[in-house]
Amino acid sequence: MPHYLVTGGCGFIGSHLCDALRRRGDAVRVLDDLSTGHRGNLAPGASLIVGDIADPAAVRAATEGVDGIIHLAAIASVERAAQDWLGTHRVNLTGTIAVFEAARARHLPVVYASSAAVYGDNAALPLSEEAMTRPLSAYGADKLGCEQQARVAGLVHGVPTAGLRFFNVFGPRQDPASPYSGVISIFCDRLARGEAITVYGDGQQTRDFVNIADVVRALLAGLDRASTAAPVFNVCTGRPTSVLTLAETIAALCGVPLQLAHQPARSGEIRHSLGDAGRARAVLGLGEPVGLREGLADVVAWLRADRPALVPG
Ligand SMILES: NC(=O)c1ccc[n+]([C@@H]2O[C@H](COP(=O)([O-])OP(=O)(O)OC[C@H]3O[C@@H](n4cnc5c(N)ncnc54)[C@H](O)[C@@H]3O)[C@@H](O)[C@H]2O)c1
Repeated sequence: MPHYLVTGGCGFIGSHLCDALRRRGDAVRVLDDLSTGHRGNLAPGASLIVGDIADPAAVRAATEGVDGIIHLAAIASVERAAQDWLGTHRVNLTGTIAVFEAARARHLPVVYASSAAVYGDNAALPLSEEAMTRPLSAYGADKLGCEQQARVAGLVHGVPTAGLRFFNVFGPRQDPASPYSGVISIFCDRLARGEAITVYGDGQQTRDFVNIADVVRALLAGLDRASTAAPVFNVCTGRPTSVLTLAETIAALCGVPLQLAHQPARSGEIRHSLGDAGRARAVLGLGEPVGLREGLADVVAWLRADRPALVPG
């Protein structure tokens, strides 16, 4: 049976991936420092090493006996990267190099999380993988650094990699209480508390929301596509959703009236973000993405079951 190391496997995306690997019968080891992840997220049958991704010895030890690495551990927050620039860099870029180095020593393929943040304010929508990268944040710059180190890992050290540029991922287990969680879980949380949803500007800004099930499919397919050419793939839907549409859909699913609190547009906020899903569909063989309403219904159902106090009705 194949054996995989999943870094960040107690987090939102990592825990769903581990569930999928276990469902297909693979052995799973998780390396996680439990800083934003939770022990309770650990997939049944997976083993857990509590350790730091930027500690090369811990990473090397965690790779013993595995057949591949899916590297998701990171400080997944633009805001935290702005506050703790160096500390975040250590985890997000040095940690990734530690993973590539361990993979070099043991001849392992690596699939790793990049981000749409590498595109920054590039307005050439939809953004294809060929579009210019111009990150606007330390977080985006470090993710781009991961991609460049992946190139080096392949060219210089013969490590096969595949980088996945996730757009706005959503799904169950995204922690609504975290100040860093995505807009969807924050909206659900506000509605559940009977509070107004804050909309900045006219609410017509759009994002490409991709469901966790599609992200897991892309990660699994990425394992077969890792190569020393260090390919990168957008993980997105190619469909724009406005913030207002999102709020309306969530309110309808929760069965509550939508109250909006309008705030001035935030300076520096990107108005539209949209990915081109063509390459991932063609090369990773991904099918039609899960629809927004269907995916949001899953999130609301999860909140009802897992955190009933947070959902109205
Ligand atoms: N959620 C999104 O929309 C999104 C978008 C783009 C990219 N990503 C990337 O996807 C990956 C997973 O993100 P997520 O949304 O599941 O976030 P998450 O915070 O739920 O998961 C990250 C996991 O990494 C662990 N971790 C953090 N620092 C660590 C360290 N120093 N050593 C070991 N483990 C550590 C955390 O405890 C957590 O379990 C990250 O690399 C993130 O940057 C996420």
